[in-house]
Amino acid sequence: KKLEFSIETIEKGGFEHFMLKEIYEQPKAIEDSLRGRMNASQGWIKLGGLNEYINKIDNADRFLITACGTSWHSGLIAEYMIEDLARVPVEVEYASEFRYRNPIITEKDVVIAISQSGETADTLAAIELAKERRALIYGICNVIGSSIARASHAGSYTHAGPEIGVASTKAFSTQVSLITLIALQLAQVKGTMPTSKLREILYELENIPSKIEETLTLDAQIKEIAAIYKDASNFLYLGRGYNFPVALEGALKLKEISYIHAEGYPAAEMKHGPIALIDENMPVVFLATNRSAYEKIVSNVQEVKARKGKIIAVVHKGDTQIRALADHIIEVPETEEILSPLITIVPLQLLAYHIAIMRGCNVDQPRNLAKSVTVE
Ligand code: G6P
Repeated sequence: KKLEFSIETIEKGGFEHFMLKEIYEQPKAIEDSLRGRMNASQGWIKLGGLNEYINKIDNADRFLITACGTSWHSGLIAEYMIEDLARVPVEVEYASEFRYRNPIITEKDVVIAISQSGETADTLAAIELAKERRALIYGICNVIGSSIARASHAGSYTHAGPEIGVASTKAFSTQVSLITLIALQLAQVKGTMPTSKLREILYELENIPSKIEETLTLDAQIKEIAAIYKDASNFLYLGRGYNFPVALEGALKLKEISYIHAEGYPAAEMKHGPIALIDENMPVVFLATNRSAYEKIVSNVQEVKARKGKIIAVVHKGDTQIRALADHIIEVPETEEILSPLITIVPLQLLAYHIAIMRGCNVDQPRNLAKSVTVE
């Protein structure tokens, strides 16, 4: 019997799709992204791109972050982290809006552009505009030598390796890892965080790859949940704080590859609109790992339950209160709250993947979408 291997089969390394392979590559991608850039026991962070311009960056009045799609969600996490840890004002903007609305940009601003491909037309145009107004441009790209990387004054590569699936997965988690280092280094320079706390977070960051490995073992359970809800026509994703951008990203994954309408919302905003949609046909995915505001999330879950919504909750191992309310519980390992997006996104990527497969969709090349959008 003749054995045939196509290049594509080999590239997929035993996985059925690139997206699934890339989801599973996240622990290694994060390790690659952090390698040589930090040391928890010695308590240092070294980002070449940042050190070169550290004076200008330290003196910046504020950071402006510009990106599209999944990279924009990483930007939202960066806003939360940099303001939280380094106490510098941050604004995040869709590149397409930023470039056309005559924004205020000065030479005292640092603009961070985030892009997996480094070729997204709107992001590139946004940084050209910021350069004209003399801001310093810091690029966070995955593709080495890409247009955005070349157009930036300084920057860091995410080192996720090639991402083939149109729906971004490991690019997102490496962006978030790198952003964590940037926020921590800024905090160090600004003196807004004691070294002991810095070390604690760095240790925890080193543990993230193995905690993602552990989370990936939930795949079979997530597949069962996918089978129950694969025919839903709407999904709602809710999270607070650091888990709010994860809600947006989880909803985006589902939309992109399964063509189910999905919305991500800050959990507390639910009462200003989405609550009107909740009935027994509405699956609601809660990201409920926050230690701060935990009680608030519990009450959001109760509000959904009272309206007969179906509750799928991502919680910390050992959670009791939400377990008692939810229809399905996905228990993930506990971590520092600021690092939780790196863990909570994983079950949402798997959920979207399995639902899309069950609906017969082409997960690696979803209809109407492109891996990088080089036109307006
Ligand atoms: C496209 C892709 C998304 C991606 C977005 C931004 O829409 O389909 O997956 O998040 O572009 O791409 P970038 O390469 O700039 O991160």
